Amino acid sequence: MDQAGVAKDGIIGHPHVRIEGRAKVTGAALYASDRRGEGGSEPDAAHAALVTSTIARGRILGFDLPTAAQAPDLLAIFTHRDFGGEIASVPHLMAGGYANSSHLPLGSDRVAYAGQIVALVVGRTPEAAAQAAALVRVRYAPEPAAASFDDPGAETVRLADLKAHHEDITVGDAEIGWREAPARIEARYTTPIQHHNPIELFTTRCAWDGGCLTVHEPSRYIGAVRHGLAAQLGLDPTQVRVVSGMIGGHFGSKFALSQHTAPVALAAKRLGCPVSLVPTRRQCFTIANYRPETRHDIRIAADRDGRFTSLVHEAEVIASRFDPFAMEGADVTASLYACPAIRTEERAVRVDRNTPGPMRAPPEVPYLFALESAVDELAWRLGLDPIELRRRNDTARDPVSGKPFSSRPLMACFDAGAAAFGWERRAPQPGTMREGAWRVGLGCAASVRPVKIAAATLRLRLFADGSAEIGCAHHEIGNGITTLLAMGAAERLGLPVERVRVQLGDTDLPAAGLSGGSSTTTSLMNALALACEQVRARLARTAVAPGRPFAGRDPAGFRLADGRLAASDGRGLSLADAVRFIDPIRVETLAEFVPPDSPPDALETLRAGHIGLTTGGDALKWAFGAQFAEVHIHAETGEIRVPRLTGAFAAGRILNPLTARSQLVGGMIWGLGSALLEETVLDGPAYRNPDLAEYLVPTAMDVGAIEAVLVPDPDETVNPLGIKGLGELGIIGVNAAIANAVYHAAGRRIRELPIRIDDMI
Ligand code: MOS
Repeated sequence: MDQAGVAKDGIIGHPHVRIEGRAKVTGAALYASDRRGEGGSEPDAAHAALVTSTIARGRILGFDLPTAAQAPDLLAIFTHRDFGGEIASVPHLMAGGYANSSHLPLGSDRVAYAGQIVALVVGRTPEAAAQAAALVRVRYAPEPAAASFDDPGAETVRLADLKAHHEDITVGDAEIGWREAPARIEARYTTPIQHHNPIELFTTRCAWDGGCLTVHEPSRYIGAVRHGLAAQLGLDPTQVRVVSGMIGGHFGSKFALSQHTAPVALAAKRLGCPVSLVPTRRQCFTIANYRPETRHDIRIAADRDGRFTSLVHEAEVIASRFDPFAMEGADVTASLYACPAIRTEERAVRVDRNTPGPMRAPPEVPYLFALESAVDELAWRLGLDPIELRRRNDTARDPVSGKPFSSRPLMACFDAGAAAFGWERRAPQPGTMREGAWRVGLGCAASVRPVKIAAATLRLRLFADGSAEIGCAHHEIGNGITTLLAMGAAERLGLPVERVRVQLGDTDLPAAGLSGGSSTTTSLMNALALACEQVRARLARTAVAPGRPFAGRDPAGFRLADGRLAASDGRGLSLADAVRFIDPIRVETLAEFVPPDSPPDALETLRAGHIGLTTGGDALKWAFGAQFAEVHIHAETGEIRVPRLTGAFAAGRILNPLTARSQLVGGMIWGLGSALLEETVLDGPAYRNPDLAEYLVPTAMDVGAIEAVLVPDPDETVNPLGIKGLGELGIIGVNAAIANAVYHAAGRRIRELPIRIDDMI
């Protein structure tokens, strides 16, 4: 191992390009909505379009359909009058069910939020369906609706009352620590609504074969889609197959059972042919989930040396009326720094909108914007370098539970990041660095994220021809897991990477959980290691059986390398011979990986399509990072540019520095968009900018030099392979690093995201 745990030999730890990369860039890759009938290339005969509600709350009085019914190539119009009662309600995935919103589409005449599905129109072509859908008229009886914080009718509930396992935190007496402190910061920070905008929309295609339903849908938890649909439609889960090809982006959406799938499945059943749905992008803003707006009241106090004496974090996040779901994050902000007195309180504000959902680092992005901005404000008040302030409050133990961190390379990340970024050139006073017409500011912030892991099952086949095949109902979400699995199997089985085939994204394969929480690599690579060991042990046991070439030897002494089953003395068998002692073609094994500290029913939870992420154990297991931003603000126009972002990250064992770096850099770019561009604006209870013309994301011209530094983080205890996962780590902290740099450049503290030109003039 050298720097960052990158291996010196073997395959794991070395850069390897994505094995599906060529298919993706040549257009050969198959996404769910590219799929047609098995083996066929004929376009589908039936296409669906959605009609969505124009009111936020109330009742549907009726539909005026005669004009729409005249539309050419129309096949059918379905409303709650057709499907009401046919789709059973299932709870949210995070509340013991399968759904990403338990709102029941076409379930009744009730309207629960603006943009909910009120009719499904099916035509012979997508254009015919869209044209007829545009002609559907709905008569409503509207009722007053609450859209966001402080609206009449918005209902504030303590998270502890909404969510079964949530507990607010109290350590010591935060009021005494606050009253007696010589340095204090008290401020409110707010973050906006943000919407996932994957290039691939939230599509589905449903086809029946007798009593069996096959769904092609981009999803990051096909197991939940299978079980959720079965529960909604009264089927046995074995009657539902869900296939998700490569996924054209999800970022947290495409999460569990979608609202639109069951209506499309019922339409396909009524019409007796497969039905495809590609919703419009505008509809994707309301039929799927989003990052909700949040606000944070932070109080942080320190003694004259900068040691924290009191921390209070009160947070409010938007939630729907119908799901007991809200992302909590004060557990992370409370445990980040040493502090003798801590109090947190989290509240959900329930309004007439669809249920929010996870978006890359769901709680850490808003919660660390608040905390890491406040820490920076405190550093200015104390006249301390913000890195030095963090060093003085670094801790090897969780200040809340007293548990140790499994590793704690936070300051190592700040030191490596500061060196790579050139932090030493930062002038100590705000508003004093200039480059021509531009004010220059440098800022930094921490990125931290608890490591999550889940049970997983995985099938491994090793063939006598020296190839291998991995099968698992997990998903290639673009993170490179296909490549990591092929690399891991190649290394452990002693084969070239090209001889390993990887099959994912099909419920016919062994069950695996949600692609989420940065848990895919931690979970699947541990499952793969188990599978490879099972195959090795079986081959070795056979080779040492009576009458075999190594009769009587210890099977533990054999390993798979260079296409052979090799004994410690260098003698060995070709893989072909070793396999053929068992079967002329192949050996097959099913690994069932259950992470340490899992609940006893982890495998049943997984096979039932529920959520089973764990973080538990005797230590806090976190990944760490330090983000650095250089901001330029035009002295006259207020234009804000970010020519440089540098991040230093410690995330356990790095399996493929190339895909690791792309995950981190991708996150950092998104963080830039989050700080300066992304915001869904409410217009009453509806979204005013639901398209990519007005919902702004960074373009190539917005992104300057980005560097992700990998910091060594050998952590033997986090899980058997020492992997932490880094899919979300790269975005966390960027908001605060940029806001802190804006303060350094312009002397203005912006506590409300996104930061706009208007804030600078
Ligand atoms: Mo996370 S956005 O739940 O992968």
